Amino acid sequence: MNHHHDSPFTQDELNRLSQSDAELLLHPASSIAGLLDQGPQMMHKAKGCVIEDQHGQRYLDAVGGLWCVNVGYGRQELAEVMRDTAVQLGYYHSFSNASNPWQVALAEKLLTLAPDGLDKVFFGNGGSDANDTLIKIAWHYHTLRGKLNKVKVIARERAYHGTSISTSSLTGLDSFHTGYPLPLDFVLRTHNPCAYTEQRDDETSTEFCNRLINHIAHLIEQEDADTIAAFIAEPIMGAGGIVVPPDEYFPRLQALLKAHDILLIADEVVCGFGRLGHWFGSPIMGIQPDMISTAKGLTSGYFPLSAALISNTIWDVLKTGSEQLGAFSHGYTYSGHPVGCAVGLANLQLLENEGLISRAREQGAYLHQQLREQLLPLDVVGEVRGMGLLAGIQLTSDKLTRALPAPSEKWPLRISQAIRQRGVIVRPLPSVATLAISPPLTISRKQILQLVTAIREGIEEFEAALPASELQ
Ligand SMILES: Cc1ncc(COP(=O)(O)O)c(C=O)c1O
Repeated sequence: MNHHHDSPFTQDELNRLSQSDAELLLHPASSIAGLLDQGPQMMHKAKGCVIEDQHGQRYLDAVGGLWCVNVGYGRQELAEVMRDTAVQLGYYHSFSNASNPWQVALAEKLLTLAPDGLDKVFFGNGGSDANDTLIKIAWHYHTLRGKLNKVKVIARERAYHGTSISTSSLTGLDSFHTGYPLPLDFVLRTHNPCAYTEQRDDETSTEFCNRLINHIAHLIEQEDADTIAAFIAEPIMGAGGIVVPPDEYFPRLQALLKAHDILLIADEVVCGFGRLGHWFGSPIMGIQPDMISTAKGLTSGYFPLSAALISNTIWDVLKTGSEQLGAFSHGYTYSGHPVGCAVGLANLQLLENEGLISRAREQGAYLHQQLREQLLPLDVVGEVRGMGLLAGIQLTSDKLTRALPAPSEKWPLRISQAIRQRGVIVRPLPSVATLAISPPLTISRKQILQLVTAIREGIEEFEAALPASELQ
């Protein structure tokens, strides 16, 4: 770690701030009672794949923040561009035809990298608002074509599309609905394509895929295609357990949706910008989406920025609509933020110039090979899933029946704590009994070995302490 940039906080200040944290802050996806009890995990510096907490403890961050720090921490290049743009302009809005050169330069670059058929871009602040934007565009598109009833959106169980009121409705994890009047009723739900948990013993992969697609076909028939605007899906599901669908799933889904004039939105918030060893997940998963949402890796997390991409076909309809209706009445104060767009452009250049996309493919193959070799022999590991530098470790209490451990036993949390004690951070996904890994794309082979070893040892320690009653 770079010692020239010491923390601006003294150790005493760090201790004091860490004490006040739980008294003052509401943390995302955290229990207030739990935070008051345990205190925060406060991070105050980082370099490459390594972060340091308030006690000076260092960790290999195998999650890349929240699957976003693709170029690694502490990048001077991004800091300089951020500083220069802040000094030169700082901020200007994009409402009512206003613009800045950075957002246009980023749009130009982004659209050369985007999958074929994605031709126009809208900038926002994060993944949730990118998905909000695309749902509104889908509604607007259908309305302008006289299809006023095309309003519903199909999303999948265990999907994660954000936590705004509309996107937490699309998110298919119960914990994001409990305690709120959610999901809103524009959302229709279909199955999750995870073979490990959903495929029946007497089903082949093709039969499983047939059942998934048939469910969607029935849903469309039952609800009436004229009431359905869009289908939203992550190419590989992230927070829902790193779920890779059967090979034929997306091509078949795509044909079905096309036949019913239902738009396909690919949520590439996690998969985009090299995570899977490709610029985007859609092309390798056999998806030709009408729209794509991106965020996270777009700036490697250095600035809150999202990009919602749409096809020329949709844009043409919106363009004609603007001749009748005037403004596209949507947008955010920080849409096209010059500092964010400058950082985004510099980040894409780093990904490109350092060959980080193909590196993710190569290091990813090594990561998956090591994970399989070292973890599959363990009693509680059912499967290793994913692609590139995105991996999920499925925990099971019974390898034969593929039973998941009881959520109340908190296996993912307990195991991730044992791994953390070995200096490595992985992400527990409690509702799906999975550990998630998505390190910076700069991770070295040595660090991959360190990470896999820490996971193996953490799980071994956990297994050794497990009462026989928890293992079937
Ligand atoms: C696939 C996916 N979509 C959308 C989001 C929401 O992004 P944000 O938290 O930036 O609103 C996330 C966040 O993890 C995500 O994983």
